[in-house]
Amino acid sequence: MEGATSMKTETEAGETQLPRTHSQVKIRGPSASDAAAVWELVQATPSLDGNSPYAYLLLCSHFADTGLVAYQGGELVGFLLGYARPDVGSTAFVWQVAVAEPARGQRLASRLLDAWFARCARRSDLRYLEATVTPSNKPSRALFESFGERHGASMREGVAFRTALFPGEVQHEDELLVRIGPISPSKAFAPVTPAREPKRDDGSRRG
Ligand SMILES: CC(C)(COP(=O)(O)OP(=O)(O)OC[C@H]1O[C@@H](n2cnc3c(N)ncnc32)[C@H](O)[C@@H]1OP(=O)(O)O)[C@@H](O)C(=O)NCCC(=O)NCCS
Repeated sequence: MEGATSMKTETEAGETQLPRTHSQVKIRGPSASDAAAVWELVQATPSLDGNSPYAYLLLCSHFADTGLVAYQGGELVGFLLGYARPDVGSTAFVWQVAVAEPARGQRLASRLLDAWFARCARRSDLRYLEATVTPSNKPSRALFESFGERHGASMREGVAFRTALFPGEVQHEDELLVRIGPISPSKAFAPVTPAREPKRDDGSRRG
């Protein structure tokens, strides 16, 4: 198991360069030229809703300030796309986050989430993180719970979109809302904590 970063820096361009010790994973803001690779990673990730390539072009360009991509050896190994909720103040919304299967369990999603929230908080004064999770997606829930714990923030839960709101021919679980915060800027900017052994689905740690 690799150690997670204990230090990271962000350049003017919003690029977060992680220490070389973490297998040269480079995290930076997205641009339109990343959208095709993001779309391909989504296609390879069955638990995610697929969207059109055009949707990823919009998110990677118009919402580039609230997104991150992670590359290792020229390959996209993870991404997080979101936006500041236009209807709810101070709230950064995670639309989709994914890590390529071989790169999972190394805290990459946690590092993306921490770097993303710090970037959002610094630029747009955002203090809450929201996301939706489906009841069956345990890794997704664990990711957000872990974020809340790390930042000493409480997590409130509700229902975002009920099954009945999806088209009849689409089998879709309820999308439950998680809302985490408030997160103080100093906590949001704190370096990512060292790696812990990830949990298995049954809650035990991988050994
Ligand atoms: C969810 C996902 C992004 C997590 O990526 P990851 O890099 O493996 O996650 P991390 O290593 O940062 O782990 C974050 C937390 O989740 C836990 N976790 C990760 N995978 C888990 C699993 N399969 N079962 C239970 N817990 C898990 C980790 O133990 C860690 O919790 P901890 O800090 O208490 O130890 C990844 O599994 C994925 O891409 N899934 C498919 C896409 C998806 O469902 N995205 C979420 C909805 S948009």
